[in-house]
Amino acid sequence: MNIQTVSKGPFEGQKPGTSGLRKKTRVFMEPGYLECFVQATFNAIGGAQGKAFVMGGDGRFFNRDAIQTMLKMAAANGAAKVIVGQGGLVSTPAVSHLIRKRGTHGGFVLSASHNPGGIDADFGIKYNVSNGGPAPENITNLMFEQTQSITGYRITDAPDIDLGTVGMCAIGDMQVEIVDPVSDYRDLMEGLFDFAKIRALFDSGFRMRFDAMHAVTGPYAKAILEGTLGAPEGTVINAAPSEDFGGGHPDPNPVWAKTLMDEMMSDSAPDFGAASDGDGDRNMIVGRGAYVTPSDSLAVLAANAHLAPGYKAGLAGVARSMPTSAASDKVAEKLGIASFETPTGWKFFGNLLDAGKVTLCGEESAGTGSDHVREKDGLWAVLLWLNILAERGQSVSEIMADHWATYGRNYYSRHDYEAVPAEAANALMQGVRDRLGSLVGATPAGLEVTAADEFSYHDPVDGSVSHNQGLRISFAGEGRAVLRLSGTGTEGATLRVYLEQYAPSSQAHDLSPEMALAPVRDAVIEITDMQSLIGRIEPDVKT
Ligand code: G6P
Ligand code: ZN
Repeated sequence: MNIQTVSKGPFEGQKPGTSGLRKKTRVFMEPGYLECFVQATFNAIGGAQGKAFVMGGDGRFFNRDAIQTMLKMAAANGAAKVIVGQGGLVSTPAVSHLIRKRGTHGGFVLSASHNPGGIDADFGIKYNVSNGGPAPENITNLMFEQTQSITGYRITDAPDIDLGTVGMCAIGDMQVEIVDPVSDYRDLMEGLFDFAKIRALFDSGFRMRFDAMHAVTGPYAKAILEGTLGAPEGTVINAAPSEDFGGGHPDPNPVWAKTLMDEMMSDSAPDFGAASDGDGDRNMIVGRGAYVTPSDSLAVLAANAHLAPGYKAGLAGVARSMPTSAASDKVAEKLGIASFETPTGWKFFGNLLDAGKVTLCGEESAGTGSDHVREKDGLWAVLLWLNILAERGQSVSEIMADHWATYGRNYYSRHDYEAVPAEAANALMQGVRDRLGSLVGATPAGLEVTAADEFSYHDPVDGSVSHNQGLRISFAGEGRAVLRLSGTGTEGATLRVYLEQYAPSSQAHDLSPEMALAPVRDAVIEITDMQSLIGRIEPDVKT
């Protein structure tokens, strides 16, 4: 094996965002671009010498090529071992589990999550540390520093290896273990949930539809739902991972999972519907005629988790990202357990989970998870829902009605304004930021502002502080709006407006979210002056 040092770099803009480095696929394919980022990562962690890593991706275009390159780089950097999923596939939560189970130094996830795949779409790479979670900011900052000064990368001239066959092989002195990406993960799920009870539910005629969206959870859902739990064949649709996700957006929400939504709202709807995203960490939950918002889903799971064997001892606490609705706070309050509010980005849950302060976490962006791994986990959320449905013997809509009658309802919706010129988006945010102080007491669109600030997070475990994590405005009557710019987009800026209105348990809970949220939305339109700043008030996507 010859090791070469190739002179290259630095490349501009290799700063890891909310969830690793995301760029257009063609950018990643520029000679040396991927390589310099990977070399910078190795440099940032003190080198790869003697270390073991996990590698896997969601199967999008360039996944296999990137893995072959990274394996050769790991070998040239002296890594002892790389565990890689068969065909280069491993879901993000399963990477997290493999890192933890095998005690590796870290792992690489190749994915741009729910963004489309293909040569003209998106690609991404994320480094996870030894607890199985995304690298925390001190490490991503080091990675970024390294990308700015890098002058070359190390790689071997070894031939590609066969990723298709499970087993051991080697590149020079480095061991490569190709594993079935599903089996360890399935065992983990079996330890958390009452599979016998869920199997009995399917045996009794319960029907579900799981839309894998042509992405990585296809093989997992087939093996677990149809293979192990006895759901009828055909329960899992779009189950074969494809390089461009069938030309769609593998994003499990009512907009991109429209086919599933239509089926669930029809007369012939099955009892339960669910979907997951490109890399398997997000989830969508929908009952017959009843869409469950991610914020509500977190709250329902928190209130009912003790019904599943893995959580029967109860929860240490619940954490949610700041823009996520306060529905889970209401549950935590009643259960007498701690609740935490973190910035957007799963990495912020890592310390709370490691310190045992929380058991469940969730985000409005369709992520839910627990301390079983250090990533959000789409299929895990679906299985916990199934376990709860099996235990309670009620429909999804009955469970929701009961939940709101107990805790009240947090009406919630997120409005996205996509591909906004960065300057205009920044001007809008700055305009509100400048007026935060004078907003309190004002009555935009007739609604009184009771509080307004920019969220800073003080990590209670390591004391670190993260500033500028979103603008939040509270209104009289427990209404709230949050404004922030997406950290995961690859084109222009995406302005996210999060709307929330609480209705206490004593009130009716049958308004449409649109109706219930109209006053808060009107107030936001006035406060931001968005018509004149970005030229529109209608969002591209409402979830
Ligand atoms: C990724 C992260 C999530 C985050 C989401 C939205 O999926 O893993 O933790 O909530 O992106 O981020 P954005 O910055 O686009 O709102
Ligand atoms: Zn994802």
